[in-house]
Amino acid sequence: MEDSRIALPIGTTLDRYIKKKQDEFQFATGELSQLLRDIALAGKVVNREINKAGLINIIGAIGTQNVQGEDQQKLDVLANIRFTRALSKGGEACAVISEEDDEIVDLNNNGRYVIAIDPLDGSSNIDVNVSIGTIFSVFRRVTPVGSPIQETDVLQKGAEQVAAGYLLYGSSTMLVYTTGHGVNGFTYEPSLGEYFLSHPDMSIPEDGKVYSINEGSYTSFPKPVKEYIEFCKQNNFSARYIGSLVADFHRNLLKGGIYIYPQTAKDPNGKLRLMYECNALAFIIEQAGGLASTGRQRVLDIDPKELHERVPFFVGSKNMVEKAISLFK
Ligand code: AHG
Ligand code: MN
Ligand code: MN
Repeated sequence: MEDSRIALPIGTTLDRYIKKKQDEFQFATGELSQLLRDIALAGKVVNREINKAGLINIIGAIGTQNVQGEDQQKLDVLANIRFTRALSKGGEACAVISEEDDEIVDLNNNGRYVIAIDPLDGSSNIDVNVSIGTIFSVFRRVTPVGSPIQETDVLQKGAEQVAAGYLLYGSSTMLVYTTGHGVNGFTYEPSLGEYFLSHPDMSIPEDGKVYSINEGSYTSFPKPVKEYIEFCKQNNFSARYIGSLVADFHRNLLKGGIYIYPQTAKDPNGKLRLMYECNALAFIIEQAGGLASTGRQRVLDIDPKELHERVPFFVGSKNMVEKAISLFK
């Protein structure tokens, strides 16, 4: 699916990759390229902090809650600072919305891009040395450059994303992103401080045998979700649930599978946030040949109403998501 003009070999550095891809677009100003570099750099810093988390005093809760009433972990707050700082230095970003900030964070009225970010995804896994991640979406602002940021710049449909990606801090650290021309994955080599292309032109198998859902909430799932789980069991599918969205998503992207976070009694709209969790992964999965839905609507078509809005999320292999959606009809 990647633009066939230049196929770059495995081992290409992220910097070289970004530069080559930018050269393919006439009139590209390089600002989006710089943004991606800024995010990749902040990812290195966060990666370093995560790697020594057990040795220094940065695990555990900080004693505050975010706007959604969730306990903030020290690394949530630290990662938020690292990414926001990296994005503010370059000047390309006019605003950031983050899981960890109640309101829009204004950066630079002369910037062209809005970033939505989950600085650290999978917070409950920080303290136990299990994979966690960062998720980001990039939008082009709609109001004129130079003017103050408006809510319309931020509350755009996922279909308007110009780039999206995630960092996975796993057994190795990876950056996976799309600019709408396929999905590419880069593995970080810490001793060299470089990301290298390791997973070119990623595509998700059309079908899979893995389902990822927190079945502890089974009794409050809607009937179609219960039916889908039954279908998985009848077909001897494997259950795999890490509890870090990025990590579950990444495994399913590589191997085939479906991730579901449905409506529950506790979270009547699901738990995951549209603007900085679902949109980015929906863009990536569609670019990789899969699907993302709320069960009733394509995620990328949702008109957002609030910064921290939640939606039910079904994402993964095309045939699996189609089957799950069919049960809602
Ligand atoms: P975050 O750590 O950014 O708040 O996100 C947590 C999310 C997601 O990563 C994960 O898949 C889900 O919460 C797990 O929720 P449950 O513990 O309810 O299964
Ligand atoms: Mn998250
Ligand atoms: Mn988070």
